[in-house]
Formats: sequence, structure tokens, C-alpha cells
Amino acid sequence: MPHALHARLPKNFVLEERLERYADAIELTPERWRGRWAEACWRGIGAGAEAGRYREVRLDLGCGKGAFAVEAARREPDVLFVAMDAEPICVAYAAQRVCESGLPNVVVVPGTGMRIREFFSPGELARIYLNFPTPFPRKRDAHLRMASMERLMDFRDVLVTGGEVSFKTDSQPLFDFMLTQVPLAGYRIVRESRDARADFPDEPASEYEERLSAQGAKVLSLAVVPGPAPEHAEQTAELSLAAYLPQDLASLEEISYAPHGMQATVANLRNRAERLSSRSAGR
Ligand SMILES: C[S@@+](CC[C@H](N)C(=O)[O-])C[C@H]1O[C@@H](n2cnc3c(N)ncnc32)[C@H](O)[C@@H]1O
Repeated sequence: MPHALHARLPKNFVLEERLERYADAIELTPERWRGRWAEACWRGIGAGAEAGRYREVRLDLGCGKGAFAVEAARREPDVLFVAMDAEPICVAYAAQRVCESGLPNVVVVPGTGMRIREFFSPGELARIYLNFPTPFPRKRDAHLRMASMERLMDFRDVLVTGGEVSFKTDSQPLFDFMLTQVPLAGYRIVRESRDARADFPDEPASEYEERLSAQGAKVLSLAVVPGPAPEHAEQTAELSLAAYLPQDLASLEEISYAPHGMQATVANLRNRAERLSSRSAGR
């Protein structure tokens, strides 16, 4: 999570104590459920419901504080939601939310999306949500992105046939980068929106979706499904997200919302374009 969120931690927040208090909602060794999440986590839906297993399993990868997973789980009690985050503070907050919701069909997992194939078996996941994944705008950090060809190739191995990856972001550069990654990993787009809140108003919102929309962001969304696997998946796209921003002054000046984490980049590009334009005007 970015520092802004850390800064809002309550003074008396003791991570270990929180993790312990909400341990019922946390699965510390996810690899042991590989291949049997739907049965192993089954707690029943209520009298008369068919017993034994969840209808399907979905992963909220980079779940943050868990608002999306909990609301989605409330709406679909026969689906198991695995809410995973690499950041222990997020795990603690998400687990608190799950415990307070009383919902049996969400489990919080501390873990990285880099190890997804160790946690799920082939065909085990019906859907993977990437809600506002950390953009890691610099080229040198691009390997950390969850929205990338490399991760889409991993997701192929754990998605059921016809299973989808659902991606949302406020970041036009990350979105346009993802559009280059989808064909490289042999996926096809089944839904695309540049204003998902207007187009799909009934979908549950994540914390970032709520917060950044309130700041003026449009939510960009994609749903993609794997097609035939590429023979040789090779990264050919520009990796720096700055390259996906407009470079000319007029377009830069038109940007009314700078993507979260890229405000400084947009300002720098604008300054540079201004300098270039006044230099050429002075010639
Ligand atoms: C920008 S936040 C979005 C949180 C939430 N999905 C939302 O929309 O409010 C990105 C989250 O991804 C998590 N994250 C980043 N890299 C990760 C990784 N490799 N594996 C799992 N989670 C990761 C971060 O800890 C952070 O909580």
C-alpha cells in the first residue's frame, strides 16, 4: 500500500495483535489447500443448501483492505472468495472486515501473486480480480506488476476453461500497457470500459475505486479470457508507464486527473513540454 494509507494507521495499531485477533479469517499456509479450496473451505450456506463445496473459487489478488471481496462474497454466498495481499497490514484489515461481516465464504491469504501456481491447481479458479493493482510505473519495477504478460501467462495455468481476469484501474498508462499485454499472452477481451462505474454501476467497488473516483478518476476496466497459448510469449511492449502518457503539451494540459502515483510524472512531462514549446516559440 502507498505511504498515504500507512500514514492513516491508528496510533495503537499493533500488527501482530491484529493478525492474531482476526486469525479465524486468515489462511497462513495456502499451499496446503491447493486443488481443494472449494471443498476444504466449505462451511455450508444454510438449511436446505446443497452441501459439500462452493460452486466456484475466485481470487481477489492484491485485495487491499478487503471491501470488494467482502461485498462480492455477500452477494454470491455459493462462491468462495480468496482475498490475497502481500502486505501484512492489508491482510490484518481485510481479515478484520471478514470477521466483522460474519461471512463464511471469504478467506484472507497473506501471499504474493508471483506464487499463484503454488497456491492453486490447474483449472481451480473461475475468476481473478485485479482491482487497482499497484502500477509500478518505472521500467525497473515493471517485473513487479500483476497487470503484465508474465502474470497473465501464470493465470492461464490456474484458470478454469473460460475463466476470466477482471482488471480495473484509474491509470490510463497502466490500462494502455495492459492492452499490449493481453494479446502477447494470447488472451482476448470480452468486456472493455473507460467508465466502468457508469457502464456497470451495480458491481461492488473496492476501497481504491471509491476513493479515487471521489477524486475525479474514471474507472477503466477490462475482462479478458485466455485463448490459445502463444508458442513463445515474449515481452515486446514499452515497460515504462511514462511512455503511455501523451507527450505533447496540448494533450498534457488536457489531463484533468493524473493517475494515482503518477502525478509527479505528469507534472514533469508538462514542464518539459512547456519548456520545449517556449524554446521553439523563441526561435
Ligand atoms: C493499489 S492497492 C489496491 C487494493 C484493492 N484491490 C483496492 O482496489 O482497493 C494494491 C494492492 O496490491 C497489493 N500487492 C502489490 N503487489 C502484490 C503482489 N505481488 N501480490 C499480492 N498483492 C500485491 C498491495 O499490497 C496493495 O494492497
